[in-house]
Amino acid sequence: MNLKNQDIISINDLSKEDLLHILKVAKSMEKPKPNLLKNKIMATLFFEPSTRTRLSFIYAMESLGGEVLGFDNASSSSAKKGESLWDTAKIVEKYCDVMVIRHPIEGAARLAAEASSKPAINAGDGANQHPTQTLLDLYTIQKVKGKLNNLSIGMVGDLKYGRTVHSLTAAMSHFNPTFYFIAPQALQMPQTYLDELKEKGIKFVTESNLQKVSNKLDILYVTRIQKERFLDPVEYEKYRGYYKLDTKLLENVKKDLKIMHPLPRVDEMDRSLDETEHAVYFEQAANGIPVRRALLALVLGKAT
Ligand code: CP
Repeated sequence: MNLKNQDIISINDLSKEDLLHILKVAKSMEKPKPNLLKNKIMATLFFEPSTRTRLSFIYAMESLGGEVLGFDNASSSSAKKGESLWDTAKIVEKYCDVMVIRHPIEGAARLAAEASSKPAINAGDGANQHPTQTLLDLYTIQKVKGKLNNLSIGMVGDLKYGRTVHSLTAAMSHFNPTFYFIAPQALQMPQTYLDELKEKGIKFVTESNLQKVSNKLDILYVTRIQKERFLDPVEYEKYRGYYKLDTKLLENVKKDLKIMHPLPRVDEMDRSLDETEHAVYFEQAANGIPVRRALLALVLGKAT
């Protein structure tokens, strides 16, 4: 498998073998390799806010000896003056070796990749995909459970707009999971994802009451209600605070349940869970560093 010069846009573009290979390379990137990407430049095109993704990409690049340029919001770029994303990507490709893009519009990363001859990495496009988050999620699951196969995975919260759960569902489908999609009906996993699971013969349950299924789970993946994706603020207010997880959850769960969250959290998960043996979300965020190091090294042809 050779990811040199490849775009990383959708998790669906990667085979099971690709995913496992990236995880293997990530394992070898737990420590910095200070000269690996010397003289390489990464551009960050962030049209939407980010803490973890942008900073861990920057840290990953710099810890491999590379350099970084870019912007962290649309209004400090010429998008504010009306420049198209196509033109932005056409220009930025002249200044960098790899670009990392986050954008509120679904498909924006694919468009930037088409405009650019340099590899483009999707750091989240609207409610669509967040493939690098999914790779670090897989890396975390592999680390904390010792395997990816045959796990019962609950996803709770905003499954309609949450791009992390869309990507993770597609990726975990390679590993014979049983999914529990826990959300109010209006925020359930979109039908298109459920249809794909049916076609592949993958077991899943849709449910709104977490208590009813919490004892079955190996992994509980919590998500926030994605305020910024709601067209109607009144609709958001209806679902805000729908789930508020705290240590009461733990009365009825497996001893080795692991709780994940892509973060940021708002009010869906209480800090009382943080110090329990179940919480792995801070470790999960830290795993973004080796995984993003691996992706940068692979697409820049400095790892195989
Ligand atoms: N998980 C994640 O994408 O976090 P940020 O929005 O802070 O990058």
